Amino acid sequence: MSNISKVPVIKVENINKSFGSIHVLRGVNLEVYPGEAVALVGDNGSGKSTLIKILSGTYGPDKGSIYIHNKQIEHLTPKKALAEGIATVYQDLSLDNYRDVIGNIFLGQEITKWGFFLDYPAMEAIAIDLLKKLKINIPDPRVPVGYLSGGQRQGVAIARAVFQGKEIMIFDEPTAAMGVKETATTLKLIHSLTEQGIAVIIVSHNLFQVFDIAHRVCIMKHGRIVKEIPTGDSSPQEVHQSLIGQTGLEDRMEQIYGI
Ligand SMILES: Nc1ncnc2c1ncn2[C@@H]1O[C@H](COP(=O)(O)OP(=O)(O)O)[C@@H](O)[C@H]1O
Ligand SMILES: [Mg+2]
Repeated sequence: MSNISKVPVIKVENINKSFGSIHVLRGVNLEVYPGEAVALVGDNGSGKSTLIKILSGTYGPDKGSIYIHNKQIEHLTPKKALAEGIATVYQDLSLDNYRDVIGNIFLGQEITKWGFFLDYPAMEAIAIDLLKKLKINIPDPRVPVGYLSGGQRQGVAIARAVFQGKEIMIFDEPTAAMGVKETATTLKLIHSLTEQGIAVIIVSHNLFQVFDIAHRVCIMKHGRIVKEIPTGDSSPQEVHQSLIGQTGLEDRMEQIYGI
């Protein structure tokens, strides 16, 4: 992880959030560095999605601070988050199924000739280059996105975010609705993001996937990050033990029955 510099792309301190009388986040601290992938794991209801929505500006925290490149951001909104380089890739990828891959990547940022004509060849060349760089396998970028597989569509959504210059990519359960092959494609793609220095935050229930992608796992419980584990020093089994908060069945059998 030599590409990880000292300034975190994003840092949050003492984030608190309640919905009515439910205290959902209780003092969350988190820093993510360029080129680093951090996984958030924890039981349903532990606050992962709420934290992500705060990082993407969807919810404002009741208390706490958010820093991007060490600059404190007051009142983060989704628009400000995008402008600051944070892209959240949700399950619903908000692509235009009738447009081709190139049209989707450049949506709203089309390249024109003489300020009037769309410069299609220029956009195509950039799109092909970008897809290649990100190792996204789409043989024909002129195909409407509606014809692509889930994994390829995920690729287009990510390529668009990268083209828009996003430095932090947040994924909430990116492979939950995918098959084995598409999952593998998406994981490869996330790898290539971190290789290019992009910071990644990923929520996933699949600990093997988490260990494949993330440099660090943050375990959330009742609105707190209770443990941070570098994946290099640990295993999915060990994190699973921490998640369930007790010794495993085998250990307990040993304790109880001496077997
Ligand atoms: N908009 C909301 N209004 C009320 N309660 C919410 C809202 N969003 C989340 N919660 C509650 O906050 C808790 C944490 O939810 P969430 O962040 O979705 O957890 P996770 O993603 O870890 O499963 C849950 O008890 C959930 O019911
Ligand atoms: Mg969730």
